[in-house]
Amino acid sequence: MKHTHIIGVGGYLPENVMSNDDLAKVVDTSDAWIRERTGITQRHIIAKDEYTSDLATRAGAQALEDAGISIDDIDAIVVATTTPDMIFPSTASMVQHKLGGKGFPAWDIQAVCSGFVYGLAQVDAMMRGGMFKRVLLIGAESMSRILDWQDRNTCVLFGDGAGAVVLEARDEDGGIVGSVLHCDGSYRDLLLAKHAHPGASPHNNRLDLNTDAAGVAAVEMKGNEVFRFAVTKLGEVVKEVLEKYDIQQNELDWLVPHQANIRILNATAKKLNMSTDQVALTVAKHANTSAASVPLALNDIYRAGKVKKGQLLLLEAFAGGFAWGANLVRWSK
Ligand code: UT7
Repeated sequence: MKHTHIIGVGGYLPENVMSNDDLAKVVDTSDAWIRERTGITQRHIIAKDEYTSDLATRAGAQALEDAGISIDDIDAIVVATTTPDMIFPSTASMVQHKLGGKGFPAWDIQAVCSGFVYGLAQVDAMMRGGMFKRVLLIGAESMSRILDWQDRNTCVLFGDGAGAVVLEARDEDGGIVGSVLHCDGSYRDLLLAKHAHPGASPHNNRLDLNTDAAGVAAVEMKGNEVFRFAVTKLGEVVKEVLEKYDIQQNELDWLVPHQANIRILNATAKKLNMSTDQVALTVAKHANTSAASVPLALNDIYRAGKVKKGQLLLLEAFAGGFAWGANLVRWSK
């Protein structure tokens, strides 16, 4: 059986940075509250004329370059996103075209903030089964376009960006060890965005409060309840994935968590007896970039030269649905 290895990593954050103080001019909040309750200090915001696929294309191009291959070497593109350019066609098909590819399959998956973790599990299963040799997997979001910028309970938490990996099926051991995924739709009302229309197009610039988009149905969250459930379920799923693949807690080198709130990240690290310097931390600078958050955090520690060949990484995420999951990865670069 083949094993799925990560052979390239990339990321992209839009140029426009919005600090907590900038945000306090838009909505009734403060830098002190946001820092203390979430660990967030700033977030990147997509440019007016950019689409989610533009962010995804840049991250994907960097991952291809890092892998030392071109789009012609790719057999499939999968984009995890909650903020697609359009209802259809898929953002992945836009990315394929923008990267100069043609003919091979491209599709989106939707598991909100768990999209990348779900995508990695899905693509790994397909690659082990021999369906593809090389796949470009991207998590990309323009969350700023589905937020209500007058709702301080949600708008302070999110940011825009994209992260990507190139996956390759090889005979040699290592790479993706395995994954665990869960969903419980009975909690669907605790974290949701009811209306997609007009979606994440540049026409939906909610930061400009004079547009019709401002104030329309957007991300809604019962923060406290989501927080409690996230801490419990993430604690359970990291233990479950270790047990499933017969790995001891102390064998882990890195926790690469979804970046929703520093307090949630720390709670999971504590359950695993991992120290802060073993945790990929980007929440302060990126905020919650939903499906982009895990690959961006991975890109961050990778580009800093911190991840070493042979190390064991645990990726995890929790999302609206609720949908949550974890992947174990033996680093092979
Ligand atoms: O990515 C998907 C998963 N998402 C998550 O995991 C998010 C989970 N939830 C959280 O991270 C936290 O629940 C929040 C950061 C959203 C909120 O933190 P909290 O400690 O649970 O605060 P809270 O909701 O209990 O609110 C405490 C107070 C309230 O005021 P009162 O009622 O005590 O007077 C809120 O109105 O803080 C107030 N508040 C704010 N104040 C200033 C809520 N948002 C803000 C704000 N600025 N932005």
